[in-house]
Amino acid sequence: CLTWGSASAQGAYPNHPISLVVPFAAGGPTDVVARSLGASMAKTLGQSIIIENRTGAGGTLASQHVARAAPDGYTFLIHHNGMATAPALYRKLSFNPLTDFAYVGQVADVPMTLLGRKDLPADGMAGFIKYARENGNKINLANAGLGAVSQLCGMLLQESLGVQFTTVPYAGTAPAMTALLGGQVDVLCDQTTQTIPQIKAQRVKLYGVTTLDRIKTLPDAPTLQEGGLKGFEVKVWHGVYAPKGTPPEAIDKFNAALRAALKDPAFSQKMAELGAEIVPEAKQTPEGLQTWLQSEVDKWGTVIRKVGVYAD
Ligand code: MLT
Repeated sequence: CLTWGSASAQGAYPNHPISLVVPFAAGGPTDVVARSLGASMAKTLGQSIIIENRTGAGGTLASQHVARAAPDGYTFLIHHNGMATAPALYRKLSFNPLTDFAYVGQVADVPMTLLGRKDLPADGMAGFIKYARENGNKINLANAGLGAVSQLCGMLLQESLGVQFTTVPYAGTAPAMTALLGGQVDVLCDQTTQTIPQIKAQRVKLYGVTTLDRIKTLPDAPTLQEGGLKGFEVKVWHGVYAPKGTPPEAIDKFNAALRAALKDPAFSQKMAELGAEIVPEAKQTPEGLQTWLQSEVDKWGTVIRKVGVYAD
């Protein structure tokens, strides 16, 4: 029987709605995945999943909140690569991604796209590279703060171009996209889960995709590597976490609902339309996420320390 502690008096877990914390603004890429995933998982859990957008400090405020939340099976976090980049980016991080959480599983991988505002006077990757080198810090690059994947992508982009743009941070790439559409910023590197509708409606200029191979949903878009940025690769992955000490029974039940959602056509079709790919079963487990997170902390830690970007 799935009961414990004070919950046992009220019946089996889950007996009331569950909170899924999203580290970025509503309507953006992480939020889109979270809401769709939550809706599907609720069908298995028999309880609704409430999406809680806790923005700030490139996603680290949300992680900190969940690390400190009651480990009762009613608070979870969905986060991406930012969970792995934060330890290198923040000298004073108030939580440790490798020791302060219980792991549920991975969800989906998402390519990113390099976009310019519709009237940016640069066409194609060659045109973009020339324009970027000629205009440097006159170019405004939007991101979602230190720890966001838009920041990671933008950082690698500037590094590989040998230029420094002017960075404009937002609470998520939903407001960053609004700024790009309104012409307040020039460039944004963002996930296909938000950008595909804008690209298809031709409201932005698409320069390329950040994966090593072209993607099915945007077959005409070159990779940044093809466009001249050798070895350029950023692929976004998502993990679901709980505070450390969350009862294993709750983790098991939440994981079972996660795995059911990843097989649910309502979820998987939506992800496919938005360029996202459901992870293989081995990654859908707590161990699969934990092992992957460790490898990503190592990988991005090395890259970020080399570039030398950090916050005190
Ligand atoms: C978002 O949901 O706004 C994005 O994932 C932010 C980012 O990491 O670029």
